[in-house]
Amino acid sequence: MQMYTLTYESTATEEVQVTNMEELLEKARVNNQRNGITGCLIYFQGGFVQLLEGDKKKIEALYKKIKIDERHKNVTIFSDDEISERTFPNWGMAYYPIDEKHATKYEFEQFKRNLIMLSDLVEPTSTTAKLFWKKIKKLISEPPL
Ligand SMILES: Cc1cc2nc3c(=O)[nH]c(=O)nc-3n(C[C@H](O)[C@H](O)[C@H](O)COP(=O)(O)O)c2cc1C
Repeated sequence: MQMYTLTYESTATEEVQVTNMEELLEKARVNNQRNGITGCLIYFQGGFVQLLEGDKKKIEALYKKIKIDERHKNVTIFSDDEISERTFPNWGMAYYPIDEKHATKYEFEQFKRNLIMLSDLVEPTSTTAKLFWKKIKKLISEPPL
């Protein structure tokens, strides 16, 4: 089946601090499952990077909602592709957050190792998925703020 994937980055706003991310995630997971959408969301140093994959119309409709969500700004797509195979088929919406202000150096190093491990495990099925990992690797190679 022909599908579609996109990946964007954004900057978290102050709203995110009062946001219960668990609730956001729960809502996203329920919605996404209903719409056959999978992907991966990373929160890192005050920004999000998300990959979404599924039916093109459904992804476009979701992205429209996400783009105007006040919990982030500067929402910018940096890659999209038509795909025939998902990169995160069994993942629902995988979520990897790190709160670098409260994380210890050890937790931060652990977070980076986990992401690198994940990126080695997950076979990218499109240029968009490759660029998603590239972006993540670039972000985590920068020192914490
Ligand atoms: C960084 C970020 C990622 C999000 N990802 C999703 C998602 O994958 N699926 C989803 O349904 N909503 C996601 N949302 C929430 C949407 O912006 C929106 O609040 C939600 O889809 C509204 O759902 P409703 O129409 O059922 O009320 C995300 C929001 C943010 C800030």
